[in-house]
This record gives sequence, C-alpha cells and structure tokens, in this order.
Amino acid sequence: MADLHFRRHRRLRTTPGIRAMVRENELRPNDLIYPIFVVEGENVRKEVPSMPGVYHVSLDYLDTEMDELESLGIPSVIVFGVPHEEEKDAEGTPAFLKDGIVQRAIRQIKENHPALTVIADTCLCQYTDHGHCGVIHNGYVDNDESLRNLTETAVSQAEAGADIIAPSNMMDGFTAAIREGLDRAGHVTVPLMSYTVKYASAFYGPFRDAAHSTPSFGDRKTYQMDPPNRLEALKEAETDVEEGADFLIVKPALAYLDIVREVKERTGYPVVAYNVSGEYAMIKAAAQNGWVNEKDIVMEKLTSMKRAGADLIVTYFAKDAVRYMQENNK
Ligand code: PBG
Repeated sequence: MADLHFRRHRRLRTTPGIRAMVRENELRPNDLIYPIFVVEGENVRKEVPSMPGVYHVSLDYLDTEMDELESLGIPSVIVFGVPHEEEKDAEGTPAFLKDGIVQRAIRQIKENHPALTVIADTCLCQYTDHGHCGVIHNGYVDNDESLRNLTETAVSQAEAGADIIAPSNMMDGFTAAIREGLDRAGHVTVPLMSYTVKYASAFYGPFRDAAHSTPSFGDRKTYQMDPPNRLEALKEAETDVEEGADFLIVKPALAYLDIVREVKERTGYPVVAYNVSGEYAMIKAAAQNGWVNEKDIVMEKLTSMKRAGADLIVTYFAKDAVRYMQENNK
C-alpha cells in the first residue's frame, strides 16, 4: 500500500473532536425564527391536528409562549393571526384593523418582551372570506387593488410595533408598494423581509388548516410561482432587491435548496429559508411511527438549509432544535 497515492479524507473524520474542528456549518439559536398562530378568545391553547406540537394560542397564553422562547434564546417570532370566521370579508378588512388580532398580539409582545424581534406576516388570505391573498375582480386576484390593502396592513402592523414586516402575498410590486407606504407613514427604519420567492406548493397544506386560509375557489397559481422554474426565481429576487427588500425569503425550503443557494450567491442579501408546515408534518408523522429519528433528522435538515446558504430559518421546530443543541453540548 505504501507506494499508492490517494487522499485520506477519513483522517478528518476519525474522532468526534476532529469532526467538530472541521465542521463547516452549525445551527445556532440566533438563526431561528419561530412561527406563532394567535387566535381570538380566551384560554385557547389548541393543537393543530396536522401539526403536532404547534398550537393556536389566545392572547392570554402569549406571554408564557414568549417566556419560553426567551429562555431558549430564540431571538424572533413571526406572527400569524387567525380571526373569527364571521369577521372575514371580501377585502380582508380584519388584516388592517388597528385592534386586529395580529396588531394586539404585536403590541403585547413588544410591551412584555421588548427584546424579542417581532416579524409580522403581511397577507390577506387568513382575513378574506374567499381565502385568496388579494382582492378579487371578475374571478381574478386583482394585483394593484390588492396592493392598497396590503400596504394598509403593513402600516398597521408597524404602528403596532412590529420590528420587521414580512409580506407574503406574491402580488407584483408588493415590496415597492409596502416600502413606500411604510416610509410615508414614518417607518423608514422598519426592514422588509419579503417572501421574494414563494412557490405554489403542496407543502402548505397543514398551514392552511392551521390558519383557516384555504382558497374557497381556484388555487394560488396565478400569483405564487410554478415549482419547475428556477430562472423566474432569480428574476423575482432581482426585482425584490430593486424594490427595497432587506431580507429575501425562499419558500418552501427543503425541495428548493438549489434556489436558496442561488438567491444567496446572486444577491448577497440575507436569505431566509421557510421550513414550511408540510415539511414539519412529514417528519412528525414519520417520527411518531418510529420510522425516523426525529432529533437527528431535524438537525440534519435545518443544518442543510444553512449549508445551502440560508442565514435564517423560519421553522416550527425552533424550540425542539434549541433543546437538541443544548443536549448535544452537554
Ligand atoms: C400566507 C402564508 C402561507 C404560508 C405562510 N404565509 C400559506 C399559503 O401561501 O397558502 C405557509 C406556511 C407553511 O406552510 O408553513 N400567504
């Protein structure tokens, strides 16, 4: 064997200590953004059936939830509101009420947990009676009309104290319109974490159960992107940067890590991978059946998002992931 020349890559895998020294990517609590669903009413802490471990909480439970995040060192939350069904209308009015469910939740978090970074998801689908992300004209989601309501929603969330606005509707020009609206209202310092690349994905199924936002007719394919497309994602990224996005979200994450990598390389902007509900539900279901090891799989897949170039990850696994990091460090 002595005169045979080849590289011994296995030398750097010999011991846990050496493997740790050459590890290229590592997940940190600071990378994580935890999604929460807030509902009207009192004393509600109801598990979402298709997302075990994820709850609808009423505002009286919010402080306990935020205490938990803070004690785990998770620095930020993204807030989704679930209004009463009977409040919804064609315009999505409950999205931009001064005292809407999200606005109250944001105010409460900033008041009681000022150090947490609060991100507001800005969309209309949970608030319209038809479940689309914009307003409808002749059966079609009207782009420019929708921008008005979306901008009003973003401004109301910033007024409530949101640290970051995350518009997720995929109308054309939403980043420009919302940026302008925020600036005009005096919120020049509030960054936009835009859902820059959002595919019309089957991986959102459990979220739509959780947020009661399934469209009552048609689908979202006239505004969310077609999954086979890659160059189109780069165009979306380019225009979103021009329009003023500060962070770029790619969603879903797992099946789109090629896009995460390219958006990061092309723009150099902070990229956020959204590890969506269907990705969560699949792992939970397999783990509950004993078919995969939940801890190992969760850490592997979140770390793979970092490896792909994501700076931040929105994930329902955030709390579990920090607990796993703590166990691994013991
Ligand atoms: C709202 C929105 C959706 C998600 C985040 N914001 C649903 C959708 O577009 O239908 C999905 C998140 C998830 O699946 O975890 N537009």
